[in-house]
Amino acid sequence: MNDANRFSDEVAAFYDASHEFGDIGDESFYLEAAMGADGAVLEGACGAGRLYLELLRRGVDADGFDVSPAMLDILREKAATEDVEPTVWEADLRSIGADRTYSLAIVPYNSFCNLRRVDDQLAALEALYGVLDSGGRLLFDVYVPRYDTIAESFGEWQSVREVEYEGRQLRGRSRATIEDQVKQTYSTEQELVDSDGDVLTRDEFVLSHLPPQQVELLARHSPFDRWSVSGGFDGESLTDGDGVQVWQLVK
Ligand SMILES: C[S@@+](CC[C@H](N)C(=O)[O-])C[C@H]1O[C@@H](n2cnc3c(N)ncnc32)[C@H](O)[C@@H]1O
Repeated sequence: MNDANRFSDEVAAFYDASHEFGDIGDESFYLEAAMGADGAVLEGACGAGRLYLELLRRGVDADGFDVSPAMLDILREKAATEDVEPTVWEADLRSIGADRTYSLAIVPYNSFCNLRRVDDQLAALEALYGVLDSGGRLLFDVYVPRYDTIAESFGEWQSVREVEYEGRQLRGRSRATIEDQVKQTYSTEQELVDSDGDVLTRDEFVLSHLPPQQVELLARHSPFDRWSVSGGFDGESLTDGDGVQVWQLVK
């Protein structure tokens, strides 16, 4: 699918360097769900393996897929330095292409926001439903689009940090800006800059805000039988002020 947000090699390396295991706060939630699953586990949009590799280290029977070959290359390189055997492939959330079914599918860390149109979001829910066993669960989280955060942080460069890429010390940075007020989409620019300030590489993606009521409507229109949402990863109700919505959909 040509309209997917695919990382370049350089920006994938920056992404990986800026998202270490333990940085996000979702780790225990997804690991506990995966280790308690009554069968195989699939991570959709597994990226460079921040969570996926930890599932393998803990002995979970887990597969993964991602649309960015650059992310999967990093995942495989990291796995090759450890005693774990990844089963990952290049695929889109809307068209998964798995050759077995799973008792649990997870799509962590805002990956669903990469789906920009209602048709794409429903296609992904249908595809994930299709790879689950009967009674299987889908877990995913997306941030709550908060007006205060958008007003304060959009337009400003964030995550400025050093990253080593092919022996060079580069500075990575990212910035979100509103793309379309009506569609509620935004663009993220991610750049790697050298010591002279020259931009060496740049990715720009368009993503979608997903307010909880929109996710609920998607769930209602999806083939899933039941769904629930929590605010954050501790299972509390989703209430005003929460930053993360965590959804469970049951087949
Ligand atoms: C925020 S990263 C999350 C990576 C990983 N799940 C984690 O938690 O660290 C989002 C990932 O979604 C992937 N992605 C973007 N659009 C996608 C799509 N349509 N289908 C599958 N993966 C996609 C990107 O390549 C990237 O690896």
